[in-house]
Amino acid sequence: MQGLIKFIATAIAAIFLIGTALADTENVKFPKGYGEKFVRYHAIDKPSKRFGPTHRIFFINKIGLNAVKAGKPLPNGTVIIREDWHVKNDGKKNAIKGANGKYIVTEKKGALVMEKGEGWGAAYPASMRNGNWEYAIFKASGERNLKAAPRIKGCFGCHMRKKADDFVFSMKELKAAAKK
Ligand code: HEC
Repeated sequence: MQGLIKFIATAIAAIFLIGTALADTENVKFPKGYGEKFVRYHAIDKPSKRFGPTHRIFFINKIGLNAVKAGKPLPNGTVIIREDWHVKNDGKKNAIKGANGKYIVTEKKGALVMEKGEGWGAAYPASMRNGNWEYAIFKASGERNLKAAPRIKGCFGCHMRKKADDFVFSMKELKAAAKK
């Protein structure tokens, strides 16, 4: 019986530990003024059955871009932003395209941010760690989107697929932009 209680207590402690490690640690701050200070390197129209279609604009700070220009790995201090915009849609998560075949942007939805910080990866179990990257979701106002915090775990899981590209999906576009 005692063994069972101990087992349950350990299991609860483990869940609690993982829970805290996977939540938004708030290490990543909203990159104020990124529109002027960062470099816009990519943009796409993206359908999503789950969240609805969005137009996505990609930005990186100078620290990150300069490293790519020099052919070096992205250093700590690199910040990459995916700015999401709502687009005209039919109310059933299908975009209504303009005459040019592109989505019609309406209002800013928010920003997904990934930032690399010294030692940040240590908070995560090796199975889910994305190097020293951490993730955060902000509302269009720049406020932290706390309601979306449970989705942070998913950021690590999906970006893990791009481990070979330092967990960055748009590495190809980033490299192309660095050549300009
Ligand atoms: C299901 C997979 C998936 C999940 C979950 C996911 N992403 Fe991504 N992310 C992508 C893909 C694919 C791209 C490339 C562009 C695109 O298709 O939007 C991307 C691009 C990005 C970028 C631009 C840099 C890059 O990797 O190209 C940032 C920043 C980003 N995501 C942050 C986040 C954050 C923060 C979360 C968690 C809230 C998150 N992502 C969750 C798949 C995912």
